[in-house]
Formats: sequence, C-alpha cells, structure tokens
Amino acid sequence: MKADTVKTEVINSIIEGYKGKEEQLIGLLQDVQAECNYLPREALVAISERLGIPLSQVYGVATFFRAFSLKPQGRHKVTVCLGTACHVRGGLRLMEKLERDLKIKSGETTEDLNITLNGVNCLGACALGPLVVLDGKYQGQMNSDKLDKVMKPLRKS
Ligand code: FES
Repeated sequence: MKADTVKTEVINSIIEGYKGKEEQLIGLLQDVQAECNYLPREALVAISERLGIPLSQVYGVATFFRAFSLKPQGRHKVTVCLGTACHVRGGLRLMEKLERDLKIKSGETTEDLNITLNGVNCLGACALGPLVVLDGKYQGQMNSDKLDKVMKPLRKS
C-alpha cells in the first residue's frame, strides 16, 4: 500500500468522525493538520464534499487562522523575531544567516521537510533579543555562534 493511500484513508476516517458535527470545522482542520503536518488541498476538498460544507467556507477557515498551513511544514520550526528591539540587535543578520545555511527564504521549508523558517514581528520578550524560537523554545541573546550550536541537532534529525 502506498503512503498516500494510507494518508487518504486516515484523513477520510478523521472526516467520518466529524459527520453531524460540521460546526466543529476548526477541530477537524486541527486533526487533519496534526496528521499531515499541513492541510493538503485534497483534504479540504474531501471535507467539503463529505460534510457538505462549501469549499469557500473550508478555505476561509483554513486561511484565517495562522496556526493552519496550506503548505507542507518542516518537522522543526525556526522563528526569528524581526521586531524593532530584536532587529537593532542583529535579528535580521540571524535571519539572513539561516536563509543562507538552510538555502531557503523566510516562509519556506527545506526540501527534506526538516525545517520551516519564519520571521515574525515582536514575540513580546524584547529584553531577550535578539530572539529565535526553535520548536517553541525561546532562545534569547542569540548570536551567530550560538545559532550554529542550537541548530546542529535540528539539522541532523
Ligand atoms: S522585538 Fe523581538 S521580542 Fe520584541
């Protein structure tokens, strides 16, 4: 059995579990994303067809919330703060270094689906700047050497 077939079966069974609970679209999308790591177009179409929810409504919810992604996401998430306080302390240089090292731009995912890189504006912890978040863990007072060190385990896994 091909991997895609397995995913389709899992997605269909998740959708089945929401029959009669169409008002819980956000929960359904969360479950699909937890399974696939993003929201594949095929899944959104299947949700629309099987639950009778207009595709525009499914897309509307999927694109409204930042937590949802329509593109495959990496196993690891790297976020660089580019807010003013972090920017003046070198946040942009850290982002440029990561873009060079990972050979992707902000908002993209490495080809092996290992790392997704994003920039954000102020994470509300300016005193820690420049700030980088690795898989949800805040790493403050970041610099180039420290970044190499904390990125090493992520790049291997
Ligand atoms: S500017 Fe980076 S945390 Fe506020």
